[in-house]
Amino acid sequence: MGHHSGVRDDGGRQRHGDGEQRGGEDGGRGPRGGRTVLVTGGGTGIGRATALAFAAEGAEVVVVGRRLGPLRETSAADPRITALAGDLTVEGEPERIVRRVLETHGRLDVLVNNAAVVRGGPLGSLGAETIGPQLATNLVAPVLLTGAALPALEASGGVIVNVSTSVDRRAWPGSSVYAATKAALESLTRSWAVELAPRGVRVVAVAPGAVDTPIGDHQGLSAERQAAVRAWQLAHTPLGRIGRPAEVAWAITRLAGAGASFVTGAVLAVDGGAVVA
Ligand SMILES: NC(=O)c1ccc[n+]([C@@H]2O[C@H](COP(=O)([O-])OP(=O)(O)OC[C@H]3O[C@@H](n4cnc5c(N)ncnc54)[C@H](OP(=O)(O)O)[C@@H]3O)[C@@H](O)[C@H]2O)c1
Repeated sequence: MGHHSGVRDDGGRQRHGDGEQRGGEDGGRGPRGGRTVLVTGGGTGIGRATALAFAAEGAEVVVVGRRLGPLRETSAADPRITALAGDLTVEGEPERIVRRVLETHGRLDVLVNNAAVVRGGPLGSLGAETIGPQLATNLVAPVLLTGAALPALEASGGVIVNVSTSVDRRAWPGSSVYAATKAALESLTRSWAVELAPRGVRVVAVAPGAVDTPIGDHQGLSAERQAAVRAWQLAHTPLGRIGRPAEVAWAITRLAGAGASFVTGAVLAVDGGAVVA
């Protein structure tokens, strides 16, 4: 590919050395032409596609997740991608992850809060063991990670992209808590956009509809149940098909790009029309 050989698995790499540079018309690019992007949940699905899309644009990308195996599969696909294992719900991990990115890359331009877990069930069946991990992963972790990343994002004139879901604006029977965590993430997007505008940081969200990823496997759904969920989603998707992770990654990279410099506080549905149907 002709660019530098990346050091994997959070090995010490050369610093870019211009962490103070603010984003201008060039989108805050470093001397090697690339921004540094942190993607949570970058080992699988939408996160992996997003990491690949940013790397294809010339960005340096760090992917975070609990399992090193999937992260390494992502980083193996492009030398600009580095795997960094960590559980965002463990105390101190969001701060450690940001410190590590700054040690290895010297700057942070884009934070993609993409990691999430889904634990379904009807009201009455929902216990603390179902509610807790969803709140911790989908809501608390993005708040802590973004807070830890803020000084670096302010220094680079950076962008925060939160990954929501298009169904959080509709009823989602059987996944009410998950939908509520995403509605909260969109609320954070609007509040942070206004709070951080004077500090030169943009905040946006992308709300995918039904997308072909391992999310159903990670939720522990049987093949039968996953097929039923897909059928329900298809029936509510005017474009009549399931989306591809790369179609969501397209929106994330575009909204994080310099061309989107007047966009903040917006939530873009990438859902085949589901939310307006
Ligand atoms: N697929 C869809 O139809 C769809 C629709 C709407 C919205 N979304 C949203 O899109 C985003 C990506 O989901 P996806 O569909 O690509 O599903 P996915 O493959 O299950 O991705 C979730 C990722 O989050 C990581 N993760 C979970 N808990 C974590 C933790 N505590 N610390 C660090 N990483 C953690 C997982 O890796 P580890 O297990 O290795 O930690 C996994 O790579 C999510 O926010 C999801 O809510 C998806």
